[in-house]
Formats: sequence, C-alpha cells, structure tokens
Amino acid sequence: MRACFEVNGREVEVTVEPRLTLADCLRHHLRLTGTHVGCEHGVCGACTVLVDGKAVRSCLMLAVQAEGSKVVTVEGLSNDEGLTPLQASFRKHGALQCGFCTPGMITTAHALLTEEPDCDADRVREVLSGNLCRCTGYVSIVEAVLDARAAYKGAAR
Ligand code: FES
Ligand code: FES
Repeated sequence: MRACFEVNGREVEVTVEPRLTLADCLRHHLRLTGTHVGCEHGVCGACTVLVDGKAVRSCLMLAVQAEGSKVVTVEGLSNDEGLTPLQASFRKHGALQCGFCTPGMITTAHALLTEEPDCDADRVREVLSGNLCRCTGYVSIVEAVLDARAAYKGAAR
C-alpha cells in the first residue's frame, strides 16, 4: 500500500506492506534509526514519536495509518546549531547511560513540555512512567525534564 505523510517537515511517500509498523517504516524505509524498537508491543516507550503533536508508540501504529499526518522523530527535535535545551539538560544531568531509551524519553518529554511547560515532578514521573530505562534509575531524567521547562515557557515549538 502507498502512504503519504510528513516526517520532520519533509513530505514522504512510501510503499509498504499493510502490516508494517510506523517504527519499522521509519527505521528501515526512511533510515531514521533514532527511533528505537525494544519490546515491540507498546510497553517500553523506546519507539515513541510525535504524530500531529501527540506522543505515540510507533510500534503500535501501522505506517499506513500515518497517511496525511505530521510525524516528528527524535531527529526532528535536533538542529544543526547545537544541542537543544532539552538535549543539553539531559547531558547536564547525566540523564542517559546506554542511550537506548533516550529517543523515547526526549520525544515524550518534548510533547509534555510543549503542552504543559509548568508541569511538576509528579506530572513528569506520571507521563514518563510509560518509558522504561534500565540504566539511570529515572531521577536524573526527571531532573533534566524539569530543568528544561524554562525553555518551553512562552515558546511556540
Ligand atoms: S518498542 Fe514500542 S513501546 Fe516498546
Ligand atoms: S539509558 Fe540505558 S535504558 Fe535508559
């Protein structure tokens, strides 16, 4: 089947098997390997991308379901000038070790901070509770997200 959608601001057209997940389409057809695949059944959050601004598990969505949508991956939340405030905050707080969970953490946190730049620690923990990290113990990730809030306040991103 053919599907047309936008990825990181670029229109793409893919021809895929109807059963292909958006995660596999991003990684294997579009070579956007920043989106990681862990559990493949919606539990770990590593595959989280933004679809029309909402954090979505791309292992639970078919590529053809993205028809007409705006998809943003972790690559789309980067820029060429340097680290974004959220990325810089993750580095400052040591909020990653192996990095496998990090793309999902960044996309989920970005969606949260865009919608709720005044969120508190409890809200950050609640939203990130669907993203598993085997390395950090989460404390540094929560601190990094809280520290990045200022960059989202009043900012249309
Ligand atoms: S790979 Fe999608 S939630 Fe784990
Ligand atoms: S940094 Fe290794 S799983 Fe989170």
